[in-house]
Amino acid sequence: MNLTDRARQRCSWLPSTDIPEGPRYKTLADQIATSVANGELKPGERLPPQRLLADALEVTVGTITRAYREAERRGLVEAKVGSGTRVRDAGMERPDFHHLSRATTDSIDLSLSIPIPNPLRTQQLSAIMAQLAEQPAQLDNALHYQPEQGNTQQREQLAAWLTSLGLDTRAEDLLLTIGGQHADYLTLQSLIRPGEAVASDALTYPGMIAAARQLGLKHLPVSMDREGMRADALERLCQRQRIRLLYLLPEHNNPTVTQMSQRRREEIVRIARKYDLLLLEDGVQFVRPELRGTPFYHLAPERSLYIFSVSKILSGGLRFGALRAPANLMQQLCNGLRSQCWASPGLMGAVTCDWLSSPDSALLINWQWDELTARHAILEKTLSGYEFMSHPCGFYAWLHLPEPWRASDFVEQAAQRGVTLVSPEPFCVGSQPAPQAIRICLTPPAHREALEIGLTRMAELLAEGPRLSAPLV
Ligand SMILES: Cc1ncc(COP(=O)(O)O)c(C=O)c1O
Repeated sequence: MNLTDRARQRCSWLPSTDIPEGPRYKTLADQIATSVANGELKPGERLPPQRLLADALEVTVGTITRAYREAERRGLVEAKVGSGTRVRDAGMERPDFHHLSRATTDSIDLSLSIPIPNPLRTQQLSAIMAQLAEQPAQLDNALHYQPEQGNTQQREQLAAWLTSLGLDTRAEDLLLTIGGQHADYLTLQSLIRPGEAVASDALTYPGMIAAARQLGLKHLPVSMDREGMRADALERLCQRQRIRLLYLLPEHNNPTVTQMSQRRREEIVRIARKYDLLLLEDGVQFVRPELRGTPFYHLAPERSLYIFSVSKILSGGLRFGALRAPANLMQQLCNGLRSQCWASPGLMGAVTCDWLSSPDSALLINWQWDELTARHAILEKTLSGYEFMSHPCGFYAWLHLPEPWRASDFVEQAAQRGVTLVSPEPFCVGSQPAPQAIRICLTPPAHREALEIGLTRMAELLAEGPRLSAPLV
């Protein structure tokens, strides 16, 4: 029996003996990250003793120590004197929640669509930045002015990552942007002339409403049903008005959480071809591959643009995104980007693309998807009996308020109970009336318990009904 076989007998997990390129300690830390991400290494599981692993892999104990330290720095494992190095729970330590009890007025924010807080984010970012700091050639590359379309290596990294998650993309199809909002704005600014019209769901992402307004474009609402944009309503609008671009949130409308069926997508494409519309699909609210429908760029590649951003999976502060566009539109988009900011920042791109390409990001992203599932279960439990739309990957749900509640009263009275919500007004296109409904974001609280307290306060308020406050005469 050789050393590796002997080690295999004693340890439930061993890294592969195929050695990828790169410093050995780092590739070992990467293997730990991959195994944690794909579940081969479970929370609490002990890593092999350092001496045993060093002998099995024919490296020095120092290399293993460095690899374990690197894994610890990335937040993957935890070393404790006497009990070795164990895999961390990717979730959070359990804090004390007494201060959030119902008697207090501490505010619980359910208004923002942001990634779920987890200390892993900062740990991973700090490890990625430290690794980058050790690579002078890559740093030098990041310091140069970048091409308008974005740094080539970063576009390749991003294309490979998107493709691995079922969004097949080539580097040449991508233009790097300063987040998703920038991609929205850039598309309108570069492809639509002032005074021309764009259309979207009647309730849509407020950043698109703001961009169209800022650029002096007409923004027309299309009425919606449980699948989002109605094809018959779109066709009627196109018969009356010349529309240049259709903004689409087919996976997960913000705020109504509707998802389009394949049939609806095909109907929209038929209308887009008939009336020569550009299709701008915004994929910033990133959905698990197995729950995603066909992207519009597959159905109508000649006229479809797709927006991606890391804001909902890594962090909004990175301000990193991309626009996937047909080749015949790329030059116009590059001209637009050049006139705004020359190119997106090379250094931010390097950090973000290294992070996305590292096995660590999969750990974080999978953790968030699992955590969302748990949070949706809390939502189902606390608001059972009320009518709401939700999606397993959704950061938010859309609650239809029971009569006689009005959304503005509910937002105000929830605030008095210590729950921050946003009114539906900012999501309304043009002068569309706001529905009596509320977007409830499940992600801002750092802990599930805080979410549950916030939702319970909402359920109590719903059950009690509105307090009359307006003057009656
Ligand atoms: C649909 C949609 N598009 C774009 C954005 C903005 O993304 P970013 O933060 O990357 O600019 C958001 C943010 O919530 C969003 O919901």
